[in-house]
Amino acid sequence: MKLEFRTAGESHGPGMMVIIDGLPAGLTIDVEFIHEELRRRRGGVGRSPRMEWETDQVEIIGGVRWKKTLGSPLAFFIPNRDYENWTALMDPLGEVPPRYEEITVPRPGHADLSGMVKYRFTDIRNVIERASARETVARCVAGAVAKLFLAHFGVTVGGFVESIGPVVIGGEEDWHTKIMRARRSPLGIFDPAKEEEVMEIITKVRDEGDTLGGRFVVAALGVVPGLGSYVRPETRLDASLGFYLLSIPGIKGVEIGEGFRSAFLRGSEFHDEIVYDPTRAPFPFLRRTNRGGGIEGGISNGETVWIRCSMKPIPTLRRGLHTVDVRSKEVVQARYERSDVCAVPRALVVGEAMVAWVLACSYREKFGGDSLSETLASFSDYLTYLENWKK
Ligand SMILES: Cc1cc2nc3c(=O)[nH]c(=O)nc-3n(C[C@H](O)[C@H](O)[C@H](O)COP(=O)(O)O)c2cc1C
Repeated sequence: MKLEFRTAGESHGPGMMVIIDGLPAGLTIDVEFIHEELRRRRGGVGRSPRMEWETDQVEIIGGVRWKKTLGSPLAFFIPNRDYENWTALMDPLGEVPPRYEEITVPRPGHADLSGMVKYRFTDIRNVIERASARETVARCVAGAVAKLFLAHFGVTVGGFVESIGPVVIGGEEDWHTKIMRARRSPLGIFDPAKEEEVMEIITKVRDEGDTLGGRFVVAALGVVPGLGSYVRPETRLDASLGFYLLSIPGIKGVEIGEGFRSAFLRGSEFHDEIVYDPTRAPFPFLRRTNRGGGIEGGISNGETVWIRCSMKPIPTLRRGLHTVDVRSKEVVQARYERSDVCAVPRALVVGEAMVAWVLACSYREKFGGDSLSETLASFSDYLTYLENWKK
């Protein structure tokens, strides 16, 4: 069974929507959990003060009855709280307001110029509205539902911010500790001793009218071996993770495990040697190290699946980059519209959502079923099969 999602909606329009198709019947939809993920996505640090206190709430339009999925497509609507201030500009059935001024100054680093060329728009507003990262709120709903589904297979997806600008947060703690600590941090970092340093650099850069990027790591714990496949390009688990993570606005680099560092290592220094441990469940073959990120030949190997993403600095700068007004051809400074200084902690939550989504697709495909009980029966059979490798 194929799991799919599709989002619709504009940043300042009536709201965002996500339709999730292909889930089995009988999955409990915990709305509190979805709201908690949306709260994490909104973040607080590096944001404009007004945005900090707004919350996102979902309305369920279809696919769920008495908190359980029905096997039909799920539809969630997330109203845009700001819409009331934008109705004149964004009413889907409205008219162009009198004396309306089109936006004709494209911002470097955004979809503005290429988007208006592609769609033959004269008003950049048409591009901004959909290219904006507001769309990721809908993806986080899909990701939260994916996490609820994955919990039935003992899979946890989490992550942490590993660097913001020049500040790197390192440590030898285990995955679980790092993820749990990062969840409690407004910056998404697992070392509380580094919070002040990170805050200082964000504040300094904000005061200078500039922005920052950084890196985050997402890990999936408890993934069984055998998800994904080498048989076709699009069935490779690493390729699917790369696709969805690179589809997040601002993400410019994705590596599976120590992917980029691997280029500098010898084979003997990089590859994860196989060991046999009959006490390990469900699969008794494991690795001493996990530099490969838990995937070989496009298939999960039973280790933690982990991925690192690089995010570029936010392209909307208060101090304004140079650009050209496409109408007058004058050299001007790019417009500044309310914007984050650094969105890496927020992008981490979107990254988790996309990793959870890809894994949910893989579990769905491998274990099938019309109802969750059928899916889990098939999963249980697979666990028995893996256990038998001990013999
Ligand atoms: C969660 C999140 C929040 C973002 N917030 C902003 C923002 O406030 N201002 C901004 O200019 N870009 C922001 N971005 C990045 C832009 O959306 C992105 O750089 C832009 O759409 C261009 O896409 P590209 O970088 O993938 O080419 C954010 C990205 C994410 C994932």
